[in-house]
Amino acid sequence: MTLRFNDETFRGDYTYHNSAAAVRRFPFPFDQDSYMYSVNIEPHRPTRAGSVFEHRFDVDEHYVAEMQDRAITLADDPLRCQSLPHMELAGWDFLELVMVCKSEDYPDMFTLHRDGDRWHWINRPLGIDQRFTFMDTSTLPCGPLEYIGRQTQGDHALLDQREGNLWMDAGIVTSQADWSLDFNIGMNFFEWHAPVPKAHELGIFQRALKFLTNVQQGKPSRRLNWTMTVNPRLDTSPENYHKWGPEKRTITPENVGAKQYLRVELQSFYRLPRSNALVFPIRCYLISLEDLVTVPKWGRRFHRVLRDLPDELAEYKGFAVNRSMIVDYLARFDDGAETSAGIFPD
Ligand code: HEM
Repeated sequence: MTLRFNDETFRGDYTYHNSAAAVRRFPFPFDQDSYMYSVNIEPHRPTRAGSVFEHRFDVDEHYVAEMQDRAITLADDPLRCQSLPHMELAGWDFLELVMVCKSEDYPDMFTLHRDGDRWHWINRPLGIDQRFTFMDTSTLPCGPLEYIGRQTQGDHALLDQREGNLWMDAGIVTSQADWSLDFNIGMNFFEWHAPVPKAHELGIFQRALKFLTNVQQGKPSRRLNWTMTVNPRLDTSPENYHKWGPEKRTITPENVGAKQYLRVELQSFYRLPRSNALVFPIRCYLISLEDLVTVPKWGRRFHRVLRDLPDELAEYKGFAVNRSMIVDYLARFDDGAETSAGIFPD
């Protein structure tokens, strides 16, 4: 295998770190010096070799550690993976999608042999060698969504499509930015987005839903979303707010560069073939401010974005309490020079 996996943690002693290469390929989400919600959806096609957009399901140096962290969260709280009875077929669709994409995109790490419904899956980084019968859950150690979700970075929501709406009827969610699958299960697109400020008035969700209900098989799309997290913690769930919420108070002007992280979600949308459900992978990337400013364009731009961000967004994203410290820190890396278009480093 060409990729080396980090030995690291996302809780406790927080030894998570990005290599220099991981910093360069970080999905910086701002293509200009200011930010407001928009329907920023583009085709999810391979873009830029080496970037997180090169493959359909990005596998990086954090893969093994992220899967270990997911196993800890699921052991503590099995309700982080749920599937309403009618979503079993969508779970199989999702398993197939991941196995096919990963074995095609990373043949050195993943292999899939198919002989009718007799399948053989090999996942070398996690040491898994599994023979099973496709669509027969009794041949896997758990349901298909949980089985492949434990081997795929990012959270995954499975959306049933009916009555012109999308319903969050299944998912595996252990690295979310302060929302709960257990709370949202069974809700529709407008219901689970209800807490988001400003976007409803801008008509964003009506347009987004129209787009999503028309996503075609084989034509996935993607968008980036972002928030801020203190310490490199994947599980920032409402269920565990008592564990990570108080950590916001540990930020000081001296440690803000090391402890404050930008959290970016690469979200994608795929139509599934048999169930007609949609799968929504939400892949989380974390970068400390001190790593981020090693790319001069990003340091300048991020300072301007956070300085000028509407208060409601800072409040909703949960960093209003530390905003001035963050902006002061970033100001040191903004010399006022112009920034180039696009998200990639110069
Ligand atoms: C079917 C796919 C989608 C799912 C499952 C989903 C799910 C969610 C959830 C659970 C939240 C957190 C809400 C809370 O505070 O409790 C959220 C936030 C949000 N969603 Fe979606 N979403 C989807 C698609 C989209 C699309 C296509 C857009 C495009 C505009 C969008 C825009 C947003 C925005 C702007 C936020 C606020 C995020 C922030 O400021 O950090 N979502 N979404």
